[in-house]
Amino acid sequence: MPNAGITGWGKCLPPAVLSNNDIATFMDTSDEWITTRTGIKERRIAHCSLTDMAEVAAKRALACAGIEGKDLDLIIMGTTTHDEQCPNQASGVQRRIPGAEGCGAMDVNTACTSFLYGLSTATAMIKTGAIKNALVIGGELISPFMDWNDRNVAVLFGDGCAAVVLQATDNDEGVQMERLGCYGESRGILQIHGMGGNYVHADRLIGVTEWQFEGQEIFKKAVSGMSMASEDVLRRAGKTAADVDICVPHQANLRIIEFVAKKAGIPMEKVYVSVERYGNMSAATVPVALCEAIEDGRVKPGSQLLMPAFGGGLTFCAHLVKWGNRSTPLGKSDAELAPQTRSALEIVQHYRKAKGHKVAF
Ligand SMILES: CC(C)(COP(=O)(O)OP(=O)(O)OC[C@H]1O[C@@H](n2cnc3c(N)ncnc32)[C@H](O)[C@@H]1OP(=O)(O)O)[C@@H](O)C(=O)NCCC(=O)NCCS
Repeated sequence: MPNAGITGWGKCLPPAVLSNNDIATFMDTSDEWITTRTGIKERRIAHCSLTDMAEVAAKRALACAGIEGKDLDLIIMGTTTHDEQCPNQASGVQRRIPGAEGCGAMDVNTACTSFLYGLSTATAMIKTGAIKNALVIGGELISPFMDWNDRNVAVLFGDGCAAVVLQATDNDEGVQMERLGCYGESRGILQIHGMGGNYVHADRLIGVTEWQFEGQEIFKKAVSGMSMASEDVLRRAGKTAADVDICVPHQANLRIIEFVAKKAGIPMEKVYVSVERYGNMSAATVPVALCEAIEDGRVKPGSQLLMPAFGGGLTFCAHLVKWGNRSTPLGKSDAELAPQTRSALEIVQHYRKAKGHKVAF
């Protein structure tokens, strides 16, 4: 049975930066509160569509792997914030990649864990021989769906995207063990009202969102789910925390990351942290952090990676990945986003004006 090696990686971060101080200009909050409670200093706000970001990330990942669109058998797009509900997001990405016409294209929505659930799906299909080459993307355009009147959530999230290429190989690499899970009974503690069919016939405007968000309960479930899944994969793989070279966790809150690392027995020097620069980008968080860990030289040939995550649902997971024999790109793409013309604050003020009224669900 073949393995599924990660042979390409690419990220796309929108350039506009929204700092904590920017948010404090229109909301009762402060840089001090946000930094001490979450570790977040700034996040990105997209001036473009999710498809635009996914196209750039995908082209960079393909160039890094040294393959072309025609080589792809499947595109998986992990996201909760689709440009359109129908048609799906992955088909829009396929259309932007020359040569990819005709390959499979599917979306996975498990909120912040969507990229990792997609990684499991593509890996399993490569192992069965159903496909050979897959593109797995994690991306989110959260800012248009944010309730910019709610300080409990508005300070936590950001936009971004990243992609990886998976290829069939006989080498001992790729996902070695995973644990996928979901606390379905707690799904109501993280809910975005105004984004689905429930609201169509209820005199609600779709897109005018209100977040149900019980931060402290999510915090506890996040720590328990990520810790349990991490312990489970290490035990079943016959490994211990000492075998982990680098942990690339979901980044929602620095305190959550520190708790999970401590429970797993992994020192923070082995944990890749980027939450201070991007906030929580949901499905984009782990793949963006992975790309940057590789760029920073922290993922080496043969490295053992642990990637725990959690998200709405409440889904959780952990993946144990063995890196292959290459952590440098084979090629580089010249794909870029169109230039931005507005600042992050101007984009957010536009959303606030468009949805200025508060809606009770
Ligand atoms: C959201 C979170 C940062 C809040 O931190 P916390 O320490 O639990 O803070 P609390 O909820 O106890 O709130 C403390 C106070 O700060 C206030 N507060 C909330 N957001 C604030 C903000 N942005 N600025 C200033 N004050 C704020 C609250 O209103 C509360 O005030 P009160 O005591 O007068 O009622 C934290 O619970 C968290 O990160 N949870 C996980 C959420 C998450 O990661 N979700 C992503 C899922 S993928």
